[in-house]
Order: sequence, then C-alpha cells, then structure tokens
Amino acid sequence: MRIIPLDTPEQVDLQAAKLMADAVAARRDAVIGLSTGRTTGSIHAAFVKLVRESGLDCSGTTFFGLDEVAGVPREYAGACYTMLKNELIGPLGIPEEHFLMLPVKSDNWERDCSAFVRELERRGGVDLLFLGLGENGHLGFNQPGSPFGGGAWLSVMYPELEERIRRETGTPAHKPLGGVTLGLKDIMHARRLVLAAKGLSKAATVKKMIEGPVTEDLPASVLQLHPCCTVLLDREAASNLSL
Ligand code: GLP
Repeated sequence: MRIIPLDTPEQVDLQAAKLMADAVAARRDAVIGLSTGRTTGSIHAAFVKLVRESGLDCSGTTFFGLDEVAGVPREYAGACYTMLKNELIGPLGIPEEHFLMLPVKSDNWERDCSAFVRELERRGGVDLLFLGLGENGHLGFNQPGSPFGGGAWLSVMYPELEERIRRETGTPAHKPLGGVTLGLKDIMHARRLVLAAKGLSKAATVKKMIEGPVTEDLPASVLQLHPCCTVLLDREAASNLSL
C-alpha cells in the first residue's frame, strides 16, 4: 500500500483525477473502474475539468461501475448507472459501448456476473479501479464477512442504504433489493487500485484498514496484500494513523 496523506479533500480529488488521466493516457483502450458515493463524486468532477482543460482523448477508454443497486431501475437517481452517467460519462460524451455496468435484474446472477467479468477481461483486464471506503470497511457491496476469494455476485446492502432506497423508490418490503458488485477477488485482480477516503467519519476505518490485521471482518484490509494500491487521504481521514 502506498499511503498519500494530503491536506484537503480537494487535493485528494485532484490527485485521483491525475491518476485517472495517467491511466487514460497510458493505454488507448484502457479499462477503468469507477465507484459512486460522496467521496468519488467530486473526483469525477475534477477529472471532467482536467479532461476539458487538457484535451485528453478518452475516446478509446472503457469505463465501468464497480457495483450497482439491484432490483430498482437504473434510471433511479441513486442508481450507480445514473450517478456515473451524470458525473462523468455524460459530460465527457463517452459512448454507451464504452460504459459497462453490472445488471440490475437477472434470473441467474452467477451467470450474468461472470459474463460481466469476462467482458472486462476480453477488453484487456482492469488497468485501474477506484474505490471508496464504507464506514464498516466495505468495498463495493462486499460487506464484512464477504469472502476474499469471491467473484462478482449479488450481495446484501447495509440496512441504512436499503431503507433509503426503498423509501426513495417506493419499493415494498416484500420485493428483494440487493447490491450487485465485483467480488473481492475481482477487485484484487485489477492491475492498479486507488482508494480515496475523506473526512473524520472514515478515520477509524482507515486506521484499521492500514494498521490492523487482514481479515474478512474488514473487507478493505485485503488491500494490504495488493501489489499496487494507492491510498489517498485528506488530513481528517488520516488523523488516526499512528505512523
Ligand atoms: C457505497 C458504494 C461503495 C462506496 C461507498 C462509500 O456503499 N456501494 O462503492 O465506496 O458507498 O460511499 P461514500 O464515499 O459516500 O462514503
């Protein structure tokens, strides 16, 4: 793990955007994975700004989403598809064939999740994957207890998020909702990982992720074992580290 402590959240965004630009420039048909949430939303804005200012050519790049809310239409404002479309894909004019998302419904999740991972491999494999950090240490929708060796799958959502999505989409309690996500094994297969964390609410989890034991109880701790993982932290997120 390469830990990069920065002062402000804006510096985290800029640094992450530069790493994304480097990956786009390094391989014409680069494959780049994106996450959604408060942390990564402003990274995407910084990247769009950087591309507009520099004229960087993204026309060969494939972007894909790390995870998605299963069981609601992808046009729902809180769906990862819609968030990424609004934040990065739309503003940069990325064509649909260069934007891959996991399915929101399926009669065979195992088959369809494996097909998604195979498509990433067919395009050359994942060059760079951006990650946010759940406060309970989750990565994507891989909650504590998810197997390190697991591939893409339909997982459960954490209760607070499920409750919010049910409320916002009017999804009744009997209709199943889930989080479809790359598995921890798939995440570890990316050539390069960049995890960003900002704010005091992440500080305790950041400390466990970096200084604690590698354990399935804290999915993000597996990143200690990745050969090329960069962790970008603002001052608050890094404030509990003892180093
Ligand atoms: C959700 C997403 C994750 C993301 C996490 C962190 O759970 N499924 O991929 O990393 O939120 O979100 P935030 O950056 O808003 O804290």
